[in-house]
Amino acid sequence: MAKPSFQGLGTSIDVPNVQALAASIANPADVPPRFVRPEAKADPVASDGESELPVIDFSRLLHHRFSREESAKLHHACADWGFFQLINHGVPDQAMEKMKADIVEFFKLPLEQKKAFAQLPNSLEGYGQAFVVSDDQELDWADMMYLVTRPLQSRNIDLWPAQPLTFRDSLSCYSMELKSVAGTLLEVMAKNLGVAPEEFSTIFQDQPQGVRINYYPPCPRADEVLGLSPHTDGSGLTLLLQVNDVEGLHIRKGGNWFSVKPLPGALIANIGDIIEILSNGVYKSIEHRAIINAKEERLSIATFHGPREDSVIGPLVEIVKGYKPKYVSISYGEFMKAYFSTRLEGRRLMESLKL
Ligand code: OGA
Ligand code: NI
Repeated sequence: MAKPSFQGLGTSIDVPNVQALAASIANPADVPPRFVRPEAKADPVASDGESELPVIDFSRLLHHRFSREESAKLHHACADWGFFQLINHGVPDQAMEKMKADIVEFFKLPLEQKKAFAQLPNSLEGYGQAFVVSDDQELDWADMMYLVTRPLQSRNIDLWPAQPLTFRDSLSCYSMELKSVAGTLLEVMAKNLGVAPEEFSTIFQDQPQGVRINYYPPCPRADEVLGLSPHTDGSGLTLLLQVNDVEGLHIRKGGNWFSVKPLPGALIANIGDIIEILSNGVYKSIEHRAIINAKEERLSIATFHGPREDSVIGPLVEIVKGYKPKYVSISYGEFMKAYFSTRLEGRRLMESLKL
């Protein structure tokens, strides 16, 4: 997403949170009270375990400029699940492996070195935490790094880690590959929704993109903390890469939490709030969260594809047709301001935008 949308939001994102976390990681028996989350224990995964996400084969989608069968599958995945695994996406292994290795390396650096790329006041970009809006709020057991990757002129290269040395190049390359995958998915989605391709390409012009790199340290009292509070993504479409083999992503379906087990090499795709609104609720932005492992760290990289900064987001006329729009229309700037000025709370913001 474009950089200026995140400026001047008045959110208090302070590096001391990261320091507090670093201190408690050094002494893991003491979980500071702000990290203790009774709801984590109270709301566990459904007992029947894992949920089989739909699997979309990207190479089949491309075949004959969109196989009808695979695009129908994609439509159902977006409408019934809001989440799917994307296989054969064509992102070269090397681009993914380089990115993963550099992320792991970056989070291993001493805190002082990471802080050279810390968030500046009133901006989300850089190393730190997001959605911290008050001093007594509960905190997620995680560090993160948010960077704007597109449009190219919105990049704030000074905040891109200069260590490891290959980081910037790896991120540039990864960003470009994912942009192209997301562009194709958005094109098929527009077609499936009966929207003129130009309409989607205008809304997503220049393919704004941002990455959120999540670092979830282990916690011996893992069931008492949360890595990432329940939320929906404020993006159009998110593509998530789990960096190591540790699982932790949960999605809410039918009121229960289910854990997601990524297929080897797959990207986990999900519909964000913007597409739920544009599609008048036909596609669903599903609540999800990340949990913590007691012994192992977990890392992930979420790549968000959003609309252009000056767009107005509301149900599209071709989709609403004679029916009633289910959501208000809101400028993307206002939406982002609302999104980042509160703590993450499931679908609260989306419910408030319903008519
Ligand atoms: C996110 C997200 C989940 C994960 O960054 O928005 O939902 O598994 N991440 O890290
Ligand atoms: Ni998310």
